[in-house]
Amino acid sequence: MIIKQADYERLTSRLSALLVDETDEIAIMSTMACELYHQLSHVDWAGFYRVTEPELLTIGPYQGGHGCLRIDFSRGVCGACARERAVQIVDDVEVFPGHIACSSTTRSELVLPVMNSDGVLLGVLDLDADQPAAFDQFDADRLSQAIAQYFSAIQPIRAF
Ligand code: SME
Repeated sequence: MIIKQADYERLTSRLSALLVDETDEIAIMSTMACELYHQLSHVDWAGFYRVTEPELLTIGPYQGGHGCLRIDFSRGVCGACARERAVQIVDDVEVFPGHIACSSTTRSELVLPVMNSDGVLLGVLDLDADQPAAFDQFDADRLSQAIAQYFSAIQPIRAF
C-alpha cells in the first residue's frame, strides 16, 4: 500500500504538470495511458476504450501489449462497466463471466467509466495486472478523481 500511495503521488503530480490547460480528448487519453503504465508499478496494461457507436467500444490510446479492437457493451469487463456505468474491480479474471482475454498473463483488472460533467459516457479506462487482486478501492478512488479532473469538460468526438 505504501508503494501504491507513492506511485499515485508521483502520477498525480506528473499529470498536473503534463496536462495543464489540455482540452483535447486524445491528447489527454494518450498522456494518461502512458503515465499510468509507467508510474504505477502494479499495472501491466493501461488504456482507454472509446464509445464510437451506440453500445460499441473501440480501442483508444493504450500502453502494453495490443488490446482487442472492438468490444460490444454486452461483452467483457469493459462492456459491463460501460453498460452499468460503474467501476468494475475484478480480483480474478478467470471467474468473471465473459471476461475477454487480451493477454494470457492477465490475472486481475480494473475498469472505470469515463464520463463528462453532462453524464455523457466517453469511454472506459481499463487497467490490467499480471498479479491477482492487484486493484482495490484505493485505485478506484484515485483514478475516479483523475478522470473527473481531466474529462469533465470534454465533449465527445463522435457522429451520433
Ligand atoms: N479484459 C477486457 C478486454 C480488454 S483487454 O483487457 C485490454 C474485458 O474483459 O473487457
